[in-house]
Amino acid sequence: MSTDRGNPWKRLGTGPLIAPSLLACDFARAGEQIDAVLAAGAGVLHIDVMDGHFVPNLSMGPPVVRKLRAYTDAPLDVHIMVTDPAYYIERFAEAGADSITFHIEATDEPAKLAARLCELGLGAGITLRPGTEASALDGVIEAVDLVLVMTVEPGYGGQKFMPQMLEKIAVLRGKMRDDQRLEVDGGIDAATACLCADRGADVFVAGESIFGSKNIAAAVNDLRASAGGSGAS
Ligand code: DX5
Ligand code: ZN
Repeated sequence: MSTDRGNPWKRLGTGPLIAPSLLACDFARAGEQIDAVLAAGAGVLHIDVMDGHFVPNLSMGPPVVRKLRAYTDAPLDVHIMVTDPAYYIERFAEAGADSITFHIEATDEPAKLAARLCELGLGAGITLRPGTEASALDGVIEAVDLVLVMTVEPGYGGQKFMPQMLEKIAVLRGKMRDDQRLEVDGGIDAATACLCADRGADVFVAGESIFGSKNIAAAVNDLRASAGGSGAS
């Protein structure tokens, strides 16, 4: 179990983090592209797990995380879009995840799952679909390290950012401690990252805007420049 690595959200301190979503990378050149985003200053790698049930798409499983773990020491931020998070938390912990984010819609026992992640020494993240109210996290929000606000419907990369989610970001940030991270995921580019940062987001997942760019390093840099919000530059 990857307990000796520690909870990345406690290790990485404060300040905005860029989390490239490997769903959008060129898998035939994954190592090279991972090196490029990390050299450009990406703080964590985001891994999207889709089971074909919770979302109508399939992606990566524990063997992929195991290979990534062997390749890099960068924190692996695993977003599990699955109907059975309790089962898969164990599988992805064994495979070497550093933090696991599960969906509130997929469990009746969110506090128990957060406690289990804590017991495993992993970062504990919780997330919600665009249609789920911020209040759905009441009672569990204080038990997690990270809240992920989905800014598109989960299941596919390359979708358009939903501006209606900006208010949810602000509402949730208002309920969180300073030592908790607020992550956004879906349609994030330099422009939308800035809008989210202004509402209190501090971890920015980006797939297409990084890996769809001709210059991956420049795309990471552009995002970092926007991730401090409109007051930053
Ligand atoms: C969607 C995933 C996202 C996705 C983001 O279900 O959770 O992480 O890969 O991709 P972009 O940045 O292309 O919207
Ligand atoms: Zn994701």
